Amino acid sequence: MSPSANRDALAIVLAAGEGTRMKSSKPKVLHEIAGRSMLAHVLASVAGADIRSAAVVLGPGRDDVRREVAAHSGEAACFVQEERLGTAHAVLVADEAIVRGFDDILVLFADTPLVASGTLLALRAALAEGAAVAVLGFETQDPFGYGRLLVDGAGALAGIREEKDASESERAITLCNAGLMAIDGRKALELLRRIDDRNAKREFYLTDIVRLARAEGLSVRVVLGDEREVMGVNDRAQLARAEALLQERLRAAAMAEGATLIAPETVFLSADTRIGRDVLIEPHVFIGPGVEIGDGAVIHAFSHLEGATIGPGASVGPFARLRPGASLDADVKVGNFVEIKATTLGKGAKVSHLTYLGDAVVGANANIGAGTITCNYDGFLKHRTTIGEGAFIGSNSALVAPVTVGDRAYVGSGSVITRDVAPGSLALARGVQVEKPGWATAFREAPRAKK
Ligand code: UD1
Ligand code: MG
Repeated sequence: MSPSANRDALAIVLAAGEGTRMKSSKPKVLHEIAGRSMLAHVLASVAGADIRSAAVVLGPGRDDVRREVAAHSGEAACFVQEERLGTAHAVLVADEAIVRGFDDILVLFADTPLVASGTLLALRAALAEGAAVAVLGFETQDPFGYGRLLVDGAGALAGIREEKDASESERAITLCNAGLMAIDGRKALELLRRIDDRNAKREFYLTDIVRLARAEGLSVRVVLGDEREVMGVNDRAQLARAEALLQERLRAAAMAEGATLIAPETVFLSADTRIGRDVLIEPHVFIGPGVEIGDGAVIHAFSHLEGATIGPGASVGPFARLRPGASLDADVKVGNFVEIKATTLGKGAKVSHLTYLGDAVVGANANIGAGTITCNYDGFLKHRTTIGEGAFIGSNSALVAPVTVGDRAYVGSGSVITRDVAPGSLALARGVQVEKPGWATAFREAPRAKK
């Protein structure tokens, strides 16, 4: 059992920053990595660290951030920081949550999205072992901009100096503050309320809590983290760097669970991608949110998947596009240049080439010929197509929805099907072939005779 198991924890997630360097109409914390907003990543790490209460501090008028909080952590309370007066001020905006009484208070930044639950548990463990404050630190070659951790002669953390307040020699320190912190919940309010804004930025610095705790003889600890995990995102270049780091993690996890990625650096996954064992993913595959891939399935090169469920043993691509609501049962085959949207395919069904299926249900073992199109949209409404078990749709057919093709029925190639086809029937809806024997030969010879 973890040392924090019997301790109640509250996470306070600071998300009131404007993120001006993103040059975006969207608030920074809603920008996504691996198909999930940075804020949602942080909330997921919080939940994974057995922290059952959360408070999010957001800027005024940010209903979009509020909605994201509700979508990812129904229980989390939102607090509005009207003026950005610093990180300690932001934490105190959530004082109503703090007074409810917790053993552990964790402060997180919503623009530091890669923090793993294990790191939060390590901070909590430091509190469980008696620290009043535990600070997440990291070593970096490029400390510019970060608060520096000041260590005393005995190797203990004495304080944190912000870049703007640091002396020449303090700026040379490479041990930095990641920004995340765990604070003893019984002491947090008293310490936070004593922080003032007498510094270069005239802000209430959360980091001052270290000096104040030390002055009271309380124990302060540093927990060391990995630079790649504590990186903050302030601009689009850092967003791309965070994406790359997270993709590396997700690929490694997929391979550790038994998937083969032939060229992992070319496969893009989402934070919620679920991949079974013995799945083979060929190069250049993009997997958006909401995808689940069953054991033994193969995703061939250059496929784009989003909101799709792929059953065991299924084969997808190359060059396939599965859109939200595509649901493939076991052993389904979806081949090249096929697009599937909001369509269920029964076990063993085949859609091998050049096809669009939308808003359809396809029975087990049906065979959909090359160039089949479900005409599901009339310009106003979407309509459903139902194709029965073992049905055979000939190549280049158009199925004008709403329409049903019964079990084991046949549709002749090139048909435009506008009415239901009964089970076991053949439907032909195309021009009847006319043949005039010798006509072509005579046609060619006529001009020659005239010359
Ligand atoms: C902070 C730390 C610094 C650390 C660095 C790590 C302080 C005083 N400094 O500096 O030691 O090395 O992070 O990235 O804590 N925020 C609010 N309201 C405010 C101010 C900030 O919600 O009034 C939020 C921001 O949106 C952001 C986080 O708090 O998510 C950190 O604020 P920021 O201004 O980026 O602090 P730094 O100067 O980077
Ligand atoms: Mg920052």
